[in-house]
Amino acid sequence: MKDFINKTAISTGAASGMGLVFAQNWAALGGNVLMCDVNDAVLQEKVAEINEKGQGKAVGVHCDVRDYAQVCAARDRAVTEFGSIDLMVNFAGGTAVRMCGVDRAQYPQFPDVPIDVYDWGIDVNLKGPFYFAHAVLKQMREQKSGLIINIGSITGAEGDGYGMDYPTAKAGLMYGLTKSIAQFGEQYGIRCVCISPGPVLTRPGMAGMRTLLRRAAEPQEIIDLVLFVASDKGQFINGENIMIDGGRNALNRLVY
Ligand SMILES: NC(=O)c1ccc[n+]([C@@H]2O[C@H](COP(=O)([O-])OP(=O)(O)OC[C@H]3O[C@@H](n4cnc5c(N)ncnc54)[C@H](O)[C@@H]3O)[C@@H](O)[C@H]2O)c1
Repeated sequence: MKDFINKTAISTGAASGMGLVFAQNWAALGGNVLMCDVNDAVLQEKVAEINEKGQGKAVGVHCDVRDYAQVCAARDRAVTEFGSIDLMVNFAGGTAVRMCGVDRAQYPQFPDVPIDVYDWGIDVNLKGPFYFAHAVLKQMREQKSGLIINIGSITGAEGDGYGMDYPTAKAGLMYGLTKSIAQFGEQYGIRCVCISPGPVLTRPGMAGMRTLLRRAAEPQEIIDLVLFVASDKGQFINGENIMIDGGRNALNRLVY
């Protein structure tokens, strides 16, 4: 596939999981990638591994997606380093109760969990992509081209009575933000798509989440869809939320 040679992508949450797999794929296909994360040590290690392969170039920047100044600095670095931003993928995220290590025995129900835990979840999962949209659309408007891919979740459609920040934020990406960016982008040739996975094996625990295919996805299966949407063949996909969940969305809830 030659579609991505010398094209530039920004990937957030790029030190691990799907953000990293995406960056590795993009560079292997000849694209340049700005990798953003808060885990600086691991990020720089992964950037070096990509660059050792001598394909597309990777640059790693510390960027907390909750901080608008850091988001703008990441955007500016991508432009000065590579000259354009062709694709922005918002991978940074996760359920706050897990990411912040909440002990469910100590905080048994939603109202018991300290509110700053949920602040983290809303800020990383929703405000981060919103900040990035605001920052990179300035550049994409100037270019008159670009694609933003938000990463939602099946949980955004299902809800979660404990980790409430997560479905709240993901539903915001899947429907409101993605459609809104696509509407703005109409006049500038900019697209926006949300890709919403079911369980993905970025950690073993996800194997226990039920799907009709009776397995979780490999991270590569999600990245293959991201690459298709970004490729020449995916150009008519716009303003849409695409579930990639092994049929979890179609489970018969009365049975399961
Ligand atoms: N794994 C799944 O089963 C699954 C399912 C549906 C949706 N998703 C979504 O896919 C995305 C990627 O998931 P994953 O499992 O690959 O993630 P992961 O947990 O492996 O990686 C998340 C990365 O985000 C980084 N990060 C955390 N806070 C940050 C911040 N404030 N600023 C910048 N980076 C930050 C972490 O350091 C980490 O490298 C997430 O948005 C997640 O909600 C995952």
